[in-house]
Amino acid sequence: MILSSNLDLTLRPMKYPQFFQLYKNSLKNIWTTDEIDFSVDFEHLRDRLSPQEAHLIRRLVAFFATADNLVAHNLVLNFYKHINSPEMRMFLGKQLFDEMLHVETYLLLVDNYIPDHEERQAAFDAYQNIPSIKQKADFCFKYMDSINELNNLDTDDRKRQFIENLICFAACVEGLFFFGSFAYVYFLRNKGLLPGLATATNWIFRDETLHIEGAMAAVAAIRKEYPHLFDAALEARMKLMVEEAIQVEMNFCQDALNFGVSGLSPKLMREYLEYVADQRLTQLGFSKAYLSKNPFSFMVLQDLQPLTNFFEKRVTEYQKGFESSRNSVTFNDEF
Ligand SMILES: [Fe+2]
Ligand SMILES: [Fe+2]
Repeated sequence: MILSSNLDLTLRPMKYPQFFQLYKNSLKNIWTTDEIDFSVDFEHLRDRLSPQEAHLIRRLVAFFATADNLVAHNLVLNFYKHINSPEMRMFLGKQLFDEMLHVETYLLLVDNYIPDHEERQAAFDAYQNIPSIKQKADFCFKYMDSINELNNLDTDDRKRQFIENLICFAACVEGLFFFGSFAYVYFLRNKGLLPGLATATNWIFRDETLHIEGAMAAVAAIRKEYPHLFDAALEARMKLMVEEAIQVEMNFCQDALNFGVSGLSPKLMREYLEYVADQRLTQLGFSKAYLSKNPFSFMVLQDLQPLTNFFEKRVTEYQKGFESSRNSVTFNDEF
């Protein structure tokens, strides 16, 4: 059983070929930070961004500075520990590699966007000091710390606690917080701004789409083996959690758009988050809660891209990453 505690290391006969296939798919999706060029972004930050847009970017960078580390932390402490499938552990191993690439990408981003050392330090401390970003981190810690002591999933209550953690990170953190931030980036890309950040986000967007797919596949397998756990009370609790995540993301939105960014509004962002939340609830096998439409046309194309051309594009786009070595970070760099 997928949540039992007697460690299964057997790959033949394969019990969860769907996870193994996801692992194989994820291996086609490898890139490196060498291909990202932030030099044009730097010019845009200096000459083209309005003060309002610059504030939005400062908030985004501060969120990105630590977010993937949090996801990686939960992956190792909880997903890897409790999903008893060697096939899923292979997938999670690749996901951990992806998350480290994302961490490295945002390290490069912070270094390029924030030349001042003290401001840079502040960006990395944002999850403790900037209220709208701290709230997001606190939301993650709430669902992570609550299962710190959980070693065995030997009761239904404990199994449900783990399922809530899994759903929190898949549907709310990777599935909602990240997608909210991607929407700001693509809004700016739509205005021809920050091409380096847009390129990095393209690759990370595809990775996150697959991470969510993997976690949702795990939830589906758990649901199949323990259908009684997925009762009306769990669904109601998960919908409350998703609503809480939307509120937290909206507080971030109010802060990030505090000075007004032409073409973006908290109302539109709320609609977009509700639209994404409904997608996540559907993936989880729950009914939709909001019935909102996607108000951002620039995100419609983005949604389709990974579905149509995801792995074929990779061959031309990602393998180039191995050929150049711009923007490399070394341990000797003084930050
Ligand atoms: Fe990530
Ligand atoms: Fe991820």
